[in-house]
Amino acid sequence: MKSKDWLNRQKRDFYVKKAKKQGYLSRAAYKLIEINNKFKIIEHSNKLLEFGAAPGGWSQVALDINPKINITAIDLLDLKINHPNIKFFKEDYLKFDYSEKENYYDLILSDIAPNTTGHQSTDHLRITNMLFDIIELLDKVLINEGAFAAKIWKGSEEKDLVNKIKKKFELVSYFKPESSRKDSAEIFIVARNFIK
Ligand SMILES: C[S@@+](CC[C@H](N)C(=O)[O-])C[C@H]1O[C@@H](n2cnc3c(N)ncnc32)[C@H](O)[C@@H]1O
Repeated sequence: MKSKDWLNRQKRDFYVKKAKKQGYLSRAAYKLIEINNKFKIIEHSNKLLEFGAAPGGWSQVALDINPKINITAIDLLDLKINHPNIKFFKEDYLKFDYSEKENYYDLILSDIAPNTTGHQSTDHLRITNMLFDIIELLDKVLINEGAFAAKIWKGSEEKDLVNKIKKKFELVSYFKPESSRKDSAEIFIVARNFIK
C-alpha cells in the first residue's frame, strides 16, 4: 500500500481514533485486549517478554490489566513509554542476550513484523522466519506451563509453524480479533501450557 493510502486509511480508522482518545500508543493495543479477554493470559503472569514492542501499545495494555507484571521489551525502534516495570532493549531480537540468568518468562508475546514489501508471500516468509527463530528461543526463556501469543501473516509456511508450536504446548488456538483488519492476512496464535 502506498504511504498516502495508508495515511488516509489511518485517518478514517475507528480503532486509530479510539486509541488516540484512550491514550494508547498503537491501534494494536485493542488486539491484545481482545486476545486477553478471550484467553486471560496476562492476569496471572509475572514476567513478560515482548518481541517487537514499539511504540508500546501492548506494554500499556499488559500494565493496565496487571500492574504488577514485569516486562522485558525488545524492538529496533524506540519505545514511547517509560515505566519502572519495563526494561527496554533497543536492538534486534537476534542480538539480545537470552543466556542471562534472569531471562526466564511465564508469558511471551510477539507482535514483531518485518518491513513489508507489499508482496504477500514474501512478507509471509519474512515474518515466518522471525517466528521460527522465536519458537527456537522458547526452550531457553519460557518456563514450564508458560504462554505464548504471536502475530502471523497467513501463507504457505503457516502449517509448519503452527505444527511446531503444537509440539511445544498443550493448548494452541487461532484467533482473529475484531480490531484486526478484515482484509489483512494477520492472525494470532495463542499457545498455553508450555511443555518444558
Ligand atoms: C506492529 S509493530 C508492534 C506494535 C506494538 N505491539 C504496539 O502495540 O505498540 C512491529 C514492531 O516489530 C519491530 N521489529 C521488526 N523487526 C525487528 C527486529 N529484527 N528486532 C526487533 N524488533 C523488530 C518493528 O520495529 C515494529 O516496531
